[in-house]
Amino acid sequence: MKICCIGAGYVGGPTMAMIALKAPDIEVRVVDMNAARIAAWCSDTLPIYEPGLDEVVKKTRGKNLHFSTDVKGGIEAADIVFVAVNTPTKSYGVGAGRAADLRFIESVARTIAECARGPKIIVEKSTIPVKTAETIKDILAANGRGIAFQVLSNPEFLAEGTAVADLINPDRVLIGGERTPEGEAAMAKLVEVYARWVPLDRIITTNLWSSELSKLVANAFLAQRISSINSISALCEATGADVDEVANAIGRDSRIGPKFLKASVGFGGSCFQKDILNLVYLCDHFGIPEVAAYWEAVVKMNDWQKRRFTAKIVRALYNSVADKKIAVLGFAFKKDTNDTRESPAISVCRDLIAEQARVSIYDPKVPAEEIRRDVLGKDAASPLLSVAADAYEAATGAHALAITTEWDEFKALDFERIFGLMSKPAFIFDGRNILDLKKLRAIGFRVSGTGK
Ligand code: NAD
Ligand code: UGA
Repeated sequence: MKICCIGAGYVGGPTMAMIALKAPDIEVRVVDMNAARIAAWCSDTLPIYEPGLDEVVKKTRGKNLHFSTDVKGGIEAADIVFVAVNTPTKSYGVGAGRAADLRFIESVARTIAECARGPKIIVEKSTIPVKTAETIKDILAANGRGIAFQVLSNPEFLAEGTAVADLINPDRVLIGGERTPEGEAAMAKLVEVYARWVPLDRIITTNLWSSELSKLVANAFLAQRISSINSISALCEATGADVDEVANAIGRDSRIGPKFLKASVGFGGSCFQKDILNLVYLCDHFGIPEVAAYWEAVVKMNDWQKRRFTAKIVRALYNSVADKKIAVLGFAFKKDTNDTRESPAISVCRDLIAEQARVSIYDPKVPAEEIRRDVLGKDAASPLLSVAADAYEAATGAHALAITTEWDEFKALDFERIFGLMSKPAFIFDGRNILDLKKLRAIGFRVSGTGK
């Protein structure tokens, strides 16, 4: 069996590396039009940072895993073509700011239609609006050569930072297809791929639309939990309740469960906001504005939480941060990834710079250039933004320090020393509240000396 995956990003790269690892008899080719990205996949410095990924790629690359810019060649040779291209929020025209921009999906479908010489199974791996398979089928059917295609939906549920563990041991694999003999046969073929390492009872098959929609709904439910606890964090601050204690108390109810109840600066990442906005757009499109408004509130709460965090810093610093140095620790949208897409740290830094603060940022994995581009825009510069070589440099002379990404290495910093380096009175925020050294120690940070 030969598999080709179009899109060598955060999803295409790791998922295909895992298939190659678990199915040595399958030849897997990952293709992308971004030559620099493909070159990085072929080098010792992979384009994405994911714990455990280097080992998986090292074991398979050059054997049954190949990376290439030859998109057409990859499609032609494959029995199964995965589509893992980006599906960002549309920034122009009808549906701007909400609908998914499907131009990359459409362009891939046209390329497949143009260069396929025999029947193929096309697998939607990208997150897309429900009914996208219909568009893909239409474009493929117009190829004029009478080639039979089956379109399946196989959304990806991995989270960045834990992608390898999620792929090795997924809660479930979801495969949607047409309930026809040809559709069932295509689904069975894809089940056969995952069944090499995923127990059959964790492989769910559904109709196409259920599978497409389930992906959006899964992300909406996860993000909703974060917005729910973040909304409660504001009430906790007003009343003296502790949001971690409340989260623990409610999470012990097995009907609620403990996961995704960590109050934060707000959720980030390339998908939660984009997928909820996509869901909102779909609801409006199908004439159910009440449902659209319900889900939109999850994103509005997240925006408010991010603004509220900056406002908290400004308030603590006597209502002005102008010309004060603020250290920001962590810039990736979560720990163990170099991905900064929609990172809450971006909004926080922009808001602080708008208040004329001098922001000094440190992140263990995000390059300085990327940080500057994300905060200021391409080719822009500002004397108010600097990137520090380490956390101690960022903290030196700072009036406040905000931990915006919970990298494990920050827990090993000596906060007594950090505190000593800062301008007094110094304020340390953990992405939510002001913490003194005692509280920092209580929540697992290292504080040498007396901790006073
Ligand atoms: P990404 O931007 O990292 O990668 C997409 C890649 O597709 C890019 O390298 C781009 O060059 C390539 N591409 C686009 N059009 C192409 C074309 N016509 N031909 C060849 N290559 C093309 O995106 P990602 O984070 O991997 O996400 C991909 C999809 O998976 C999105 O729909 C996303 O919502 C979904 N998803 C992402 C995650 C995640 O953790 N990032 C998890 C689950 C699902
Ligand atoms: C999320 C989902 O968890 C994946 O299942 C899904 O496949 C993926 O989106 C996607 O479709 O792209 P990801 O965004 O990589 O994965 O990471 P998460 O662990 O979900 O974290 C997202 C954001 O929420 C981060 O900014 C994180 O800090 C924040 N978060 C998470 C909280 O603020 N509190 C929590 O309790 C959990």
